[in-house]
Amino acid sequence: MHASSPDFDSTFFRSALGRFPTGVTVITASLPGQAPVGLTASSFNSVSLDPPLVVWSLSRNSSSLATIQQCKRYVIQVLASDQMMIAQRFSKGTAAERFSGVPLTTAPNGSPRLQADCAAWFECSNRSQYEEGDHIIFVGEVEHCARNDSLPLIYHAGGYDLTPPPETKKP
Ligand SMILES: Cc1cc2nc3c(=O)[nH]c(=O)nc-3n(C[C@H](O)[C@H](O)[C@H](O)COP(=O)(O)O)c2cc1C
Repeated sequence: MHASSPDFDSTFFRSALGRFPTGVTVITASLPGQAPVGLTASSFNSVSLDPPLVVWSLSRNSSSLATIQQCKRYVIQVLASDQMMIAQRFSKGTAAERFSGVPLTTAPNGSPRLQADCAAWFECSNRSQYEEGDHIIFVGEVEHCARNDSLPLIYHAGGYDLTPPPETKKP
């Protein structure tokens, strides 16, 4: 069964979706013997505590698609508020340009991970994939994770934004 035709265009749909603020992640992966791929993704969310599952989606047109579909594991790093430059770097250019001069380390099960001090990172096994529309939905099973206390980078209405703390109300 098909839904009826929408009464909005994709530009308006995108702008409406942009009213929902998200964090920002960079997802990194590699195939054996190959250079890493990585991309900025805001579609990340939690799914399940037991087992520990997370979800995110990747455009079918992504240059990282083949690697992400085939890799056994990937790392999802949640960017901190001072890491906007990393978000911008991993959303454009070639894989080689994205990783140029970026120190990498290895997560416990061997996936490439940014050495930068991100707010959190999750090493996931590539548990399942679902084709939906123009994206592929990936569910990852978290094998390892770490976090610190830094504030997250926030993405909202097409820009990076940190909501200011509420003004202290006078009694
Ligand atoms: C803040 C932000 C969030 C993004 N989130 C996603 C996402 O969740 N999924 C996705 O496929 N692309 C997302 N993108 C786009 C990718 O980072 C990248 O620009 C796009 O995949 C084009 O590069 P590629 O074709 O080499 O992958 C996002 C970009 C930005 C700046």
